[in-house]
Amino acid sequence: MTISPQSAFTGRPLAVVVLAAGQGTRMRSARPKVLHEIAGLPMLGHVLVAARGLRPARIAVVVRQDRDAVAAVALEHAPEAILVDQDEVPGTGRALEVAVAALAPFEGDVLVVNGDLPHVDTDTMRALHQEHVLRGATASVLTAVFADPTGAGRIVRDREGSFLRIVEERDASPEERRIVEGNGGVYVFRTAGLGRRLEGLGTANAQGERYITDLVALTRDAGGTVLAVPAADEGVVAGVNDRVQLATAARRMNDAIVRRHQLAGVTVVDPLTTWIDATVTIGEDVEIRPNTQLQRATAIERGAVVGPDTTLLDTEVGEGARVNRTDATLAVIGAGADVGPFAYLRPGTRLGAGGKIGTFVETKNAVIGASSKVPHLSYIGDTEVGERSNIGANTITANYDGVHKHRTTVGSAVRTGSHNVFVAPVTIGDGAYTGAGTVVRKDVPAGSLAVNVAPQRNIEGWVEQHRPGTDAATTAARAQGAQQEDTP
Ligand code: UD1
Ligand code: MG
Repeated sequence: MTISPQSAFTGRPLAVVVLAAGQGTRMRSARPKVLHEIAGLPMLGHVLVAARGLRPARIAVVVRQDRDAVAAVALEHAPEAILVDQDEVPGTGRALEVAVAALAPFEGDVLVVNGDLPHVDTDTMRALHQEHVLRGATASVLTAVFADPTGAGRIVRDREGSFLRIVEERDASPEERRIVEGNGGVYVFRTAGLGRRLEGLGTANAQGERYITDLVALTRDAGGTVLAVPAADEGVVAGVNDRVQLATAARRMNDAIVRRHQLAGVTVVDPLTTWIDATVTIGEDVEIRPNTQLQRATAIERGAVVGPDTTLLDTEVGEGARVNRTDATLAVIGAGADVGPFAYLRPGTRLGAGGKIGTFVETKNAVIGASSKVPHLSYIGDTEVGERSNIGANTITANYDGVHKHRTTVGSAVRTGSHNVFVAPVTIGDGAYTGAGTVVRKDVPAGSLAVNVAPQRNIEGWVEQHRPGTDAATTAARAQGAQQEDTP
């Protein structure tokens, strides 16, 4: 039997350790750094998705700052992860030390990845691990040549180019600071001897912390082989330490997401103003117009046109639907339906196929059946509308009596007049009509016309009597004179 390089490669078990215990001071935020979101996922979520792609035997997440919140996100994205609590001893080296202790008696390779690397992908980490195994390394570090290495630990090599050590920027000499090859924050260590070397980490540095980066020199001193492996693209290891880097990372990830959809057959008219979360799905021949944000579990079926100026959160858009200048959350828009411009779809809105939610319309918990329309200036809440019904312009469901919310039920093929109020709970039967201005307080039976507006009275001469000399009075007098002249 021949052993393929791949099976030889995977022969040694791999554990992944994600470092997520830091304070993230430079973010100046009440929220822990690794929970800041990019493309709809916390940074830690991106890292865990990539790490799980390696199919490691074990995965550990080191937590401390906002422990419970970070732990919850870790388990959401990697339910099999073990959570390791870092104690009060600070530093990335200490974080790894507690993780290695928690993983014991694990033997093999440990791949360590900083939790603030949202772009790091499975392939990059796998390539580092492969290189580490194939070259028999004891410790391997992913590096990158940065256009601006500010903040990164610098990769110090000797004249021959052999990797010597990593020096943190704060501890670097002016010459070392000129080095543009930086530490990417992803490492692989053989477990053999690792615990002992971790114990040897000191705190003689500007921050007084135990640095993971010092393991490199310790490993070399102990006769181990250390590797510095440059990443193909510096962007993959662009870390996020402050809000400027957060925005840069979001831009970069969005560019990649937009491009992926474009190559899959989606027209994105203006990639710069279109923001699409990593979790969104979009069918072929969808067109996304400028200033549109598609968030979380939003799903858009083939041929739909979305935007401009539209934000959809957890919203489904059916095939061929049109959604224009709309804000929607937890809504379902049927195939061929027409929404907007200026529509506000709140949670629980379900618009059937071929239906319409038009201009200046707000809906909430509203099921509007196929081919039914709410075209203009309305609020429809806690309501069910059947099929092929039309709700007149400027209709409001009065669903809240100050204490309870009540439901409105409108049947199929109903025609309601403009400027109605449906005072819930109330039911309007199939095929019923209501007159303009009706306040519907009682159920309307199928096929009936409901009207409850008082008959109109015209009080002749009221303007001349009560507003003499006004523009209205003189204009009216002129109109009346003209009328009299016309009468033979
Ligand atoms: C670190 C590296 C630096 C490298 C850079 C790459 C060290 C000492 N420096 O710097 O060489 O160029 O990443 O992005 O490692 N963390 C813990 N426990 C701690 C401290 C940090 O778990 O006690 C976690 C943080 O949550 C974070 C990660 O480790 O996810 C890196 O910490 P951070 O403070 O961002 O290190 P950098 O200054 O970026
Ligand atoms: Mg960092």
